Amino acid sequence: MKTRKIVVANWKMNPTSAKEAKMLFSQIKRKASILKKTSVVVAPPFAFLSLFSSTKKALKNFSLGAQNTSWQSSGALTGEVSSPMLKDLGVSYVIVGHSERRVLGETDALVARKVASLLGERLLPILCIGEAERDQHGEYLSVLSNQIKSSLLGVSKRDIVNIVIAYEPVWAIGKTAKDAMDSHKLHETTLFIRKTLTEMYGRNIAEAVVIIYGGSVEPVNAPDLIKNGNVSGFLVGRASLSAKEFGNIIDAVEAV
Ligand code: PGA
Repeated sequence: MKTRKIVVANWKMNPTSAKEAKMLFSQIKRKASILKKTSVVVAPPFAFLSLFSSTKKALKNFSLGAQNTSWQSSGALTGEVSSPMLKDLGVSYVIVGHSERRVLGETDALVARKVASLLGERLLPILCIGEAERDQHGEYLSVLSNQIKSSLLGVSKRDIVNIVIAYEPVWAIGKTAKDAMDSHKLHETTLFIRKTLTEMYGRNIAEAVVIIYGGSVEPVNAPDLIKNGNVSGFLVGRASLSAKEFGNIIDAVEAV
């Protein structure tokens, strides 16, 4: 089965001002408006989400994303933002389990609760998984399968197809294209991820799950990764802060 293609901009804690955020957002939106085959999601910091809350009705293949959510829908949780709030702001996709949050103490169990809270609001989780390092003996594979099984604990066959899996090897994040994963290894790893999903949900459903790659994607490595990496798109950090670079990455995905 051919899955849909998707490119996600993870702005992380950037840019500094609402003015810059608005400019970058509108440049990316303009780019998305001419695409035929690829969906684009922009995930700004929480502080800027309300600037873009009309996005939901604007374009079919362009959506607003968020970078995190709380595991609870309301209550005494200083500094947290809930899934119902994100929904109310017009957010469609939400990144969960990013490695930059896992190092702050987010466990698979907490990630699973966040996934459940998003699904409860009919928001679409972008679940990040990825090994911290690659050892010689293939132990990273059990790291990956454990992450997948624990973070998806309780997710039904009906809901799994609404989740985007973002495979982001931690060692490849925030560097340059030459440090990214090569497309051959990416292909192998996505087969393993799909095998794990097949054990959990059966083959047909596992085939329908969208898997994307993140970790130092740039215009220079995007064409090879999308052609040969067996993924349906990318989660892009640093390069998504440049409308030109991000646009070139989108073009590479649209071209296959
Ligand atoms: P990067 O970030 O593209 O800057 O490596 C990707 C991510 O962390 O989602």
